[in-house]
Amino acid sequence: MKKVITYGTYDLLHEGHVNLLRRAKELGDYLIVGVTNDSFDRDRGKLNVRNNVLERVEAVKATGFVDQVIIEDYVGQKIDDILKYDVDVFAIGSDWEGKFDYLKEFCDVVYLPRTEGVSSTMLRAESETIVRLGIVGCGRIARRLVAESQKVDAVRIEALYDTAAEAAAELCPEGARVASSFEELVESVDAVYIATPHLMHYTQAKYALEHGCHVLCETPMVLSEAHAKELFALAEERGLVLVEANKTAYCPAFNHLITLIKSGLIGDVVGIDASESKLWGRDKLRRELDPKQAGGSIYEMGSYPLLPIVRLLGTEYENINLYSRLNDDGVDVYTRGIVRYKSAVASFQLGLGVKTEGNLVISGTKGYAYVPSPWWKTDYFELRYEDQNENKKYFYKWDEPGLRYELQEFVACIINHRLTSARLRPQESIAMARVMQQFTDRINFFEL
Ligand code: CTP
Repeated sequence: MKKVITYGTYDLLHEGHVNLLRRAKELGDYLIVGVTNDSFDRDRGKLNVRNNVLERVEAVKATGFVDQVIIEDYVGQKIDDILKYDVDVFAIGSDWEGKFDYLKEFCDVVYLPRTEGVSSTMLRAESETIVRLGIVGCGRIARRLVAESQKVDAVRIEALYDTAAEAAAELCPEGARVASSFEELVESVDAVYIATPHLMHYTQAKYALEHGCHVLCETPMVLSEAHAKELFALAEERGLVLVEANKTAYCPAFNHLITLIKSGLIGDVVGIDASESKLWGRDKLRRELDPKQAGGSIYEMGSYPLLPIVRLLGTEYENINLYSRLNDDGVDVYTRGIVRYKSAVASFQLGLGVKTEGNLVISGTKGYAYVPSPWWKTDYFELRYEDQNENKKYFYKWDEPGLRYELQEFVACIINHRLTSARLRPQESIAMARVMQQFTDRINFFEL
């Protein structure tokens, strides 16, 4: 029996796919099709795939040409599959001409003619609702988001606004325009990305929601629990999406870590230690250390270590003690927080004037997770056990600067009418704002 194998994503299955599968089947007696896993596609930069893997598998089976479907999970799997299934012919569309010649060592390689004029990318573009995005605050982080927006099909940057008009003009991509005011920006878009200094977030997010705009707001979204609750209630009442832009929360590797731990791989979580520090000096950290702009370690970076803490231990902590070293302006250049739960404890260290190891350790009753610095851009972690033979290392790709995932999630929420994201839930954002407020109010606060 002559066995043929082919691979693909097969999103929004179309005539090109059907022709390809028919031709592949004609090359032998038995056709195996490798359909890519959702996370494999995401890892190789295909963020916009519409159908999930189960839907794609069903569609491939329904063509009637396929004898066996397998899932493609990792780079290098093709050689393993060819050997495992004793394959005679590897077939793929001519758009890949030459790219798979390395498989000739294992079987015949055939490039089949591609059907002109149709592709999943084209079909997605035709049926896509495009979210028109406005950006307010055109600093460092907004620059990164503009670059990353090109990776997300369903979003188009429509307009930008900054109190410094030249900053907006400089960042303005082709096809977008500079708005004359924040109000005018809100009027002309479906959604707004707020990347202004922290203290402006609340007023701007509220205004945008009141005027029918979905909001993606940089972290920390707000510095008071009441403000956070009010904004989420307003978004819900108006049927609008409100998402806090904490890039780690949407990163695939970090989310895999969370799901592995929630599945019990290290037992019950009893302790979490997370740290982050930037010792860049006063010149480079001017805004970050400015007391008038809510500068300081906890406001600036606190939502990153609080993320694994609230995601894994929940938002119902018993109490938090905060220990800070303040500079002459009263800004915390170092803060350590101890978060006590009923049956667990977490601690975090943040430094804008103190250097510390920036890793994340999650301790459980069976083992622990170790995520090396910079863990907030997770691309690698280990699960470690008493018996070192059981240790496992997990590797991922981190695509700098990593904002595409939050933008993709935000846009997916809008298109699918999901008002909030499960990656960072409203109550988790609210809990983080509560910690910021505790710091502002100097409750359980100890100066070092
Ligand atoms: N294919 C084809 N003719 C087309 C489109 C795809 O023969 N018009 C073939 C590809 O060459 C590949 C297989 O179908 O062998 C699966 O490809 P896939 O990447 O799923 O399809 P595309 O429509 O090209 O997807 P995208 O636009 O997302 O790259």
